[in-house]
Amino acid sequence: MNRIEAIYSLIDKNDKVIDVGCDQAKLSIMLSLRNQASIACDISEKVIERARHDIDSSLIDLRVSNGLEKIQDGEGDTLVLAGMGTHTIIEILSNTNLRFNKIITISNNYHDILREKMNNLNYIVDKELIVKDNNKYYNLIMFKEGNKKYSKKELLIGLNHIDKDMYNEYLNYLLNKYLKIKKSSKDNNKKVNEIINLLS
Ligand SMILES: C[S@@+](CC[C@H](N)C(=O)[O-])C[C@H]1O[C@@H](n2cnc3c(N)ncnc32)[C@H](O)[C@@H]1O
Repeated sequence: MNRIEAIYSLIDKNDKVIDVGCDQAKLSIMLSLRNQASIACDISEKVIERARHDIDSSLIDLRVSNGLEKIQDGEGDTLVLAGMGTHTIIEILSNTNLRFNKIITISNNYHDILREKMNNLNYIVDKELIVKDNNKYYNLIMFKEGNKKYSKKELLIGLNHIDKDMYNEYLNYLLNKYLKIKKSSKDNNKKVNEIINLLS
């Protein structure tokens, strides 16, 4: 399963999907093949122009939009923010009054900060899934509305993983990665030590 297929697998047929940062709108294309409409936006005019040229489906509403700027209240209940950094994801959600039942993220970095800041925005982790795509691990985190006090461990390595085998493989990879960082670095990095202690 690749990243887009993993996101697709968590979307129900009745979800009203908005994919922000859609690039080639691959997710919307998959949804359209099962007759599901969606909105696909991207900040780049060029990206949307290319998608308009390549895609011929009345089920896909393509929009140039910085974050959720061009989305009206009631147009969607399921938000996808994938292939962006945590700071962009948080900025997009901080700049809107819109609320979502389900937010599916694949952030490139700082997943602990993402979990914490999403909690500040009143979204909690519903499920997580590690996706191995082209030999690289991706953290898919699906949020729902709520508020929760997380432990340090939950913030750093996540919670509610639906594929335990892949999660264990990922934790093993993380431990080796941080052990290598520790070995090659002269600094005594607190986060590196915390993760090694959690995983050892
Ligand atoms: C790496 S691509 C990810 C494409 C796809 N979502 C995926 O996961 O494969 C990131 C896309 O996000 C778009 N993007 C970045 N910042 C954005 C923002 N603030 N609002 C909308 N789109 C944005 C970029 O133009 C780019 O097309």
